[in-house]
Amino acid sequence: MSSASLENAFAVLRENDRGTYTVPTKGLYPFQWNWDSCLTALGLAAISQDRAWTEIETLFEHQWPDGMVPQIVFHVPSDTYFPGPDIWQTNRPTPTSGITQPAVAGFAVRRLFDRAQDRHTDRAMAETRSRALLHKIDAWHAWFYRNRDPHGEGLVAILHPWEAGRDNSVDWDEALAQVPTSGITPYRRRDTDHANPAHRPTDAQYDAFVWLVEHFRRLGWDNSLLHDASPFRVVDPAFNAILIRSCADLAAVAEALGEKTLAQRNRAWAQRSLDALDALWHVSSQRYQGFNRATGERIDSRSIGGLLPILAAIPPARAAAIAGQIAAMGEQMHFLVPSHDPGAPGYEAQRYWRGPIWLITNFLIENGLRQAGQTEVADRIVRSSLDLIEKSGFAEYYEPQTGAALGGGRFTWTAAMVIEFLTRR
Ligand code: GLC
Repeated sequence: MSSASLENAFAVLRENDRGTYTVPTKGLYPFQWNWDSCLTALGLAAISQDRAWTEIETLFEHQWPDGMVPQIVFHVPSDTYFPGPDIWQTNRPTPTSGITQPAVAGFAVRRLFDRAQDRHTDRAMAETRSRALLHKIDAWHAWFYRNRDPHGEGLVAILHPWEAGRDNSVDWDEALAQVPTSGITPYRRRDTDHANPAHRPTDAQYDAFVWLVEHFRRLGWDNSLLHDASPFRVVDPAFNAILIRSCADLAAVAEALGEKTLAQRNRAWAQRSLDALDALWHVSSQRYQGFNRATGERIDSRSIGGLLPILAAIPPARAAAIAGQIAAMGEQMHFLVPSHDPGAPGYEAQRYWRGPIWLITNFLIENGLRQAGQTEVADRIVRSSLDLIEKSGFAEYYEPQTGAALGGGRFTWTAAMVIEFLTRR
């Protein structure tokens, strides 16, 4: 049997299923992660639509009163992960971290909603459950624009690299260098007990990650204060594009359910941010580039963050240019899509988000390319993704030239994306 089979992917999901939520992989990540769960729900739907809805509902049960949906929910204690609840100290009934992650929930809910159209029972369930989720996701979107775009520029900022979900991307290097690291409480990393340190963020990066957490903690996790008080505030094109797409997708579901006001509000957010995003197009590198909002400097980095905006309804010429950039990387590398351009400064083939391939970003880019009619490159990404599984199993991420497995193994969202690729064909 082929490794890249539905049966094998289902087995990974079952192993990491904790009943009402999944963990990304045991040991390395023993809790519920925000965007992992939303994307994993898409794979779960092939097993049980009921279970898929539950995955997202469980996450939203831990939404903060101000609307934020946290990056991690610490459902049960575990000492295999740092930083745990004792470091975050967010004072929530079930402990959570104090930052957020890419807003894929709106996108995921629309996909679940659309796929439930075949059978009457699935459709009825999708209507009830998405109707309840709509308002929670809308509150999260409102939270973003209120707290992460407090000066009304149309784009939201991340205040911690972990919020982007691309923890150690080259994109953050300069902004992170401006974060102090003195005075942090001594700590011991746990990630390097489970994965090769050469494939993970550096200790210097971890010091800055921890400084930011302690800084926000001193400010009592008051989201109305954090943006202006953070030395790290970065406008990332990928993060914004995901939010834009989710606003548009949420609006579509809301329209189908007759929730007009909610739909209009989300369409307006999407349009306004899409207009603002366009100013981030960078002609000479043929991709989007973010900027450091604390200094106003453009972030001159050739990462996947500049290509992921394909997920939003960007102009066709820009989509074609992005497809061209990906095809060009395909000339250099065996597999697609490296998280950083292999010919660009900062590229490291094995270090986490500085070069390796991740199946979730492959899936999001592929989705955007198809939406833009760029089917050839989209098909190539699907083939590449399945070849990686065939060669190296359900890893956390992969080396772009050799296809070697890196990071954690038996990875939940990797399996979920394989299910998406296989069931849609
Ligand atoms: C790492 C990834 C992040 C993911 C988390 C759990 O921190 O960078 O994107 O959500 O692991 O898998």
